[in-house]
Amino acid sequence: MILDIITKKRYGQVLTKEELAYIFNGYLQGEKTDYQINAFLKAICIQDMGDQEIFDLVDIFIKSGEVIDLSFLPVPVVDKHSTGGVGDKTTLIIGAIVASCGVPIVKMSGRGLGYTGGTIDKLLSIPGFQVDLSSEEVKQQAKQVGLVITSQTASLTPLDKKVYALRDVSGTTSSVALIASSIMSKKIAGGAEKMVIDVKSGEGALLEDPKDVNRLCELIEKIGSYYHKEVRTVVSSMDHPLGQTVGNALEVLEAIRVLKNEEQGELLETCLTLATNMIAMGKSISNEEARQLALNSLQTGAAWQKFQEFVKAQHGNLEQLRIQAQKYYIKATKAGTIRAIHALAAAKVAYILGAGRKEKDDPIDPSAGIVFEKKIGDKIEPGMILATLYTNRPLPALDVEHLFEIA
Ligand code: URA
Repeated sequence: MILDIITKKRYGQVLTKEELAYIFNGYLQGEKTDYQINAFLKAICIQDMGDQEIFDLVDIFIKSGEVIDLSFLPVPVVDKHSTGGVGDKTTLIIGAIVASCGVPIVKMSGRGLGYTGGTIDKLLSIPGFQVDLSSEEVKQQAKQVGLVITSQTASLTPLDKKVYALRDVSGTTSSVALIASSIMSKKIAGGAEKMVIDVKSGEGALLEDPKDVNRLCELIEKIGSYYHKEVRTVVSSMDHPLGQTVGNALEVLEAIRVLKNEEQGELLETCLTLATNMIAMGKSISNEEARQLALNSLQTGAAWQKFQEFVKAQHGNLEQLRIQAQKYYIKATKAGTIRAIHALAAAKVAYILGAGRKEKDDPIDPSAGIVFEKKIGDKIEPGMILATLYTNRPLPALDVEHLFEIA
């Protein structure tokens, strides 16, 4: 039977929901092997999936675990997800802005796998911060603070988790159909009625080709309407790291500077775009009105206040947050203008410094990472500091040649 289904997909035929459930549920129950599922995923990567197959797969993923009920809140939660980027600390900033405008955020986030940490790793760099909250604590905090970020429970879409782990090591992460099903099943099971998906595009993103990025947006929106969820997608560039820092505690410190209204530039703009869409959806107002609310919350200090309230509620101590690591500098060897800072190269350097993990239980050094002292377009002279590296490891040979493009 499994061979027939794999062969059917290999020849590009449409599968029924029963056939998809037979394969995927069998995998979750340990009745199908990694190599069988790998062959099936490869066939999907090559032949793609039709809309109905994708809707069915989302349902199979959702029903593999618990579905969170957030209906206890007086207003609908608006969720946010990013397809993953280097230096992406937007959730920390947006969560505080949106919640301070009266739109509750109850978000489950992942630990990072790959070169850099995920939102949970960034939050865990704040001493004392707790990410494993009981459902009663989540409810209390959602009502009192309006902002909760917890780690994803093992019981939420366990099938997606198992399939994603296999995709990650078998070169099958780039299927647009699988990405859309994976993201949307988690978001729907997470209980949000409305959501904004930040689809990253470019060199440091999961998808580089704009055609794939557009199809992913289309699919995400189609899945949303099939499941009666209000969904918006926003495409943002991931050719260079977002903001000035890559590394967990460094990114929290940068997020705080944005929340204190001390930073301008691309990171702030990306956050404002995402927050605007979330506030507009949450309050059913225009984007213009929503953007004004977001700007006010930064200017009056309400967003920064909300962030402090949120960190305190989850037992974090911001006063003890500091970078404890050796510093090293990358200096310019020639004069010119910085044309590019490559996201993927930055992520690899941050990983070597200790900011990321390969296996899910690998330790992360919260202080490790990079601060870019110059940005794209800056003119430089030989000897100028381009970046500061923080690490507690003996500094290995680093591929800094590929970090900056100077011409
Ligand atoms: N993020 C997810 O959650 N799943 C994917 O497949 C890709 C990005």
